[in-house]
Amino acid sequence: MDVLQRALSCPKAELHVHIEGTLEPELAFALAQRNNIDFPHASIEDLRAAYDFSDLQSFLDLYYACADVLRTEADFSDLMLAYLRRAREDNVIHAEIFFDPQTHTARGVAFETVLNGLEAGAAIAQAEWGMSTRLILCFLRHLPEEDAFATLDATLPFIDRVHGFGLDSSEKGHPPSKFERVFARCRELGKKVVAHAGEEGPPAYIVEALDVLKVSRIDHGVRAIEDAALTQRLAHDQIALTVCPLSNVRLCVFKDMRQHSLPAMLAAGLRVTLNSDDPAYFGGYLGDNIRAVQAAFDLDAETWCLLFRNSFDAAFVDDEKKALWLSRVDAHMQP
Ligand code: HPA
Ligand code: ZN
Repeated sequence: MDVLQRALSCPKAELHVHIEGTLEPELAFALAQRNNIDFPHASIEDLRAAYDFSDLQSFLDLYYACADVLRTEADFSDLMLAYLRRAREDNVIHAEIFFDPQTHTARGVAFETVLNGLEAGAAIAQAEWGMSTRLILCFLRHLPEEDAFATLDATLPFIDRVHGFGLDSSEKGHPPSKFERVFARCRELGKKVVAHAGEEGPPAYIVEALDVLKVSRIDHGVRAIEDAALTQRLAHDQIALTVCPLSNVRLCVFKDMRQHSLPAMLAAGLRVTLNSDDPAYFGGYLGDNIRAVQAAFDLDAETWCLLFRNSFDAAFVDDEKKALWLSRVDAHMQP
């Protein structure tokens, strides 16, 4: 088996995927019809043609607009199950999945509807295929911290069903420190916290996410490499970075895959994990990211093994589960 085939068939964890970003045009149209929504795109092809982004904001505008077709528990369940069915084809066995409740509650969809639906889809995948999932609630950083607090309050009756908290949406001009108090509250509740930082924003935002929000992982973090002291710190502390290569190219963080900072990050000894971010919008799922990375950088089996190990190592699961999964990666990648 060549290196790519071995990598593709290895058991994997995905730690950075937004469930709203897994909404394929086909499902969006089906849900629009089911919910009698006048969807502002003429056809599936027309919608796909709109996936031509110049930066993060140009993507977010379409991503929030498409989320309007998600209305009922069944919609969220179908969305979750469709993602997990597709992820399974790439041998994903564990997924930590972001969701953006503010995108839905602002449209009058109850928090409980979103949570019940996502859990129902995940329960089917667990029962049918033994897939393991975690839900991470993301606060939208373009909104005020008060809105995040209101979202956290609405979550309290269901707090045991949310595994962690994150920070996403428009990065520039919305530094992590804007959410210092609400993240402190999340940590007091005993939850893990993560934050998108250093995707479009400067390395200083990564430093803030670590020092002010006290995150366990950095989402993206691809601009860390611009700051030597930060790079050294991330390597020393082995802070996991959830890197999403196709996303970075589609959102013009890098001109093309060969310009991506991944090789420099690996060379610096950073704990990199590979992920798909918003696979319906960015040209593919985890396997597609692996293919694109391999086409650009021709990584060896040892590096792939490290990348897959990093994901399980950085997962929010107990040590026993982690050890079992790591042994499966080792057995697959080092036969
Ligand atoms: N960055 C910030 N917010 C997001 C993203 C992203 O890549 N995807 C969905 N929300
Ligand atoms: Zn993301």
